[in-house]
Amino acid sequence: MAAGTSLTELSQREFLDELDILLAIYADAMQAQAALLPGRLDLMRRHSSYPAFRAVHVRARPGGPVVGFAYGFHGQGGQWWYDAVWAALARSAGVPAAADWLADCMEIAEVHVRTEHQRAGIGSAMLMALTAGRTERTAVLSTPDRDTTARRLYRRVGFGDLLTGFSFPGGSPPYAVMGAVLPLRDPMAADTGPSSARPSI
Ligand SMILES: CC(C)(COP(=O)(O)OP(=O)(O)OC[C@H]1O[C@@H](n2cnc3c(N)ncnc32)[C@H](O)[C@@H]1OP(=O)(O)O)[C@@H](O)C(=O)NCCC(=O)NCCS
Repeated sequence: MAAGTSLTELSQREFLDELDILLAIYADAMQAQAALLPGRLDLMRRHSSYPAFRAVHVRARPGGPVVGFAYGFHGQGGQWWYDAVWAALARSAGVPAAADWLADCMEIAEVHVRTEHQRAGIGSAMLMALTAGRTERTAVLSTPDRDTTARRLYRRVGFGDLLTGFSFPGGSPPYAVMGAVLPLRDPMAADTGPSSARPSI
């Protein structure tokens, strides 16, 4: 990240206190329709109550506005995303593979950077900070099943495809579900050789 850029971990309270700011970053980064934002706000509020919730935000200069955020939590049965992915993975790869990826996982739920601050290393830094020191065996996430900046970023730090062309229950555009064995591979580290973060399927 550029000099002067700072990354801070947020408590659940701090995350909730700046939800409107974070939602505006989400809307900008995702070019989201205004009508979808109230639902997203509710979802983010709910996510913050999940076990081992961890959130980070980034300012591009000291005292300046927040320009990026990311969060995740411990994935477990009873969570909508987790149950949908477990069922699909068990169907496509078998129950042992689903358990291998999901029995002890961190779900990375959101990673967003304001458009004008993208391509400066903020997304990579947030992913590394979010997963640093986590005790879960794996990290899992879903992202549109296209060649996007996000998809390349996830691949660079060690994520591989677990499911492709996946539509979530209720209908959605095709997603890729990706997984990595923790710790992630730091894209800024000098040694970019083979890592243990290899999906087994
Ligand atoms: C995905 C996202 C969070 C990545 O954040 P970011 O801060 O742009 O990520 P990084 O800067 O670490 O890496 C992005 C690209 O910038 C490049 N980059 C990083 N630092 C750079 C620098 N100093 N100079 C030039 N390029 C740089 C990276 O190599 C990478 O290139 P690539 O797209 O060709 O692979 C951001 O693009 C975003 O918010 N996108 C829209 C929302 C979204 O898709 N979120 C994820 C949903 S699953």
